[in-house]
Amino acid sequence: MKLFATCARGLENVLADELLAINAEQVEAGRGGVQFHGDTAVLYRANLWLRTAIRVLVQILEIPVQSTDDLYAAVQTIDWSYYMTPEHTLAVDCNVRDSEITHSMFAALRVKDAICDQFVAKVGRRPSVDTETPMVGLNLHIFRNEATLSLDSSGESLHKRGYRPILTRAPINEALAAGLILLTGWRGDVPLIDPMCGSGTLCIESAWLALNRPPGLTRKRFGFMGWMDYDVALWTHLRDEARRGVAQTLPCVIAGSDIRSDAIHFAETNARAAGIGHLVKFTRRDVADFTPPKGPPGILLINPPYGERLGEEKDLVPLHRTLGNVVRERCPGWTLYVFTGNAFLARQIGIKPSRVLDLFNGKIPCRLLEYRVE
Ligand SMILES: C[S@@+](CC[C@H](N)C(=O)[O-])C[C@H]1O[C@@H](n2cnc3c(N)ncnc32)[C@H](O)[C@@H]1O
Repeated sequence: MKLFATCARGLENVLADELLAINAEQVEAGRGGVQFHGDTAVLYRANLWLRTAIRVLVQILEIPVQSTDDLYAAVQTIDWSYYMTPEHTLAVDCNVRDSEITHSMFAALRVKDAICDQFVAKVGRRPSVDTETPMVGLNLHIFRNEATLSLDSSGESLHKRGYRPILTRAPINEALAAGLILLTGWRGDVPLIDPMCGSGTLCIESAWLALNRPPGLTRKRFGFMGWMDYDVALWTHLRDEARRGVAQTLPCVIAGSDIRSDAIHFAETNARAAGIGHLVKFTRRDVADFTPPKGPPGILLINPPYGERLGEEKDLVPLHRTLGNVVRERCPGWTLYVFTGNAFLARQIGIKPSRVLDLFNGKIPCRLLEYRVE
């Protein structure tokens, strides 16, 4: 199968490494995702294990298109009875970039019509549309004049792990959080602390990584479960095998703190929902009062507020200066990682970064800055 896993821009190489670890073949990082090949086991493992992917697509048609009529004709060349019956529900999602076809909803509609018209012509009945939880979800991607039609094996976005029902202010997406952790190179060998932890996402994702706990372990539904060829025995085997490999205790300290007591409450609730509430300690504390735990140095991974709204930026200058002073004075030997969308505020930390990585948080260009504290 020809497969493509999508991710946030900047995480492509990390995702490619994740794919190599699950035995994917012909892995090639692209823009906003990674191309790869694999069998059904690789497809299931990708959905179960990938921490940085948003969805995993099975490519079934790649064609040059000038118009939605071209698209309709090409989609009709596929024998859709191979993928579904009239009793199945379907949905077509479409994204378009730099193309003469500009109307993504209309393009999606033409694909749906091509499929349904084929069923009506052959058997007099057609699948119905379910945009919420279709049994067969299709993804149409049009870039310039190339259209790629894929089966969406994930369904709901893979970043929705299910442990974070409560949203605090500006939580970071779970897949991006996992990507930041992997980019630091941390693998559970030294302490990891987030002293501005908000809802605890960075700590929870770190704990899952250190425990070798796959992000999809307790998820109820993946897109491929609605397909005609869904192999329940294979999926159950892969999931149970993964479950047996999950460690019960952390190999190192993982902890979070935040100045807001409501954030600590949310972080604790989320950690419990993620099954690691007893392993990660969250404390209400101003970063100005932060002291690292005794023992070997580790990493501080922080996503400070970066003031997207007018006027907020100036107010956040003292916070960033305090952070810089605290780590310089109290954390020699530690490595600080700051994920921010504000270069001006990052400079207020007052330490020269040893590494700068460009990323995106949704549409906001951001950076992961590494500071080695002497
Ligand atoms: C962008 S949010 C972090 C979001 C977090 N990564 C998550 O996934 O929910 C920034 C956090 O910094 C916290 N914060 C702001 N000033 C602080 C301070 N002086 N000390 C500790 N935490 C602070 C805020 O309460 C907020 O939760």
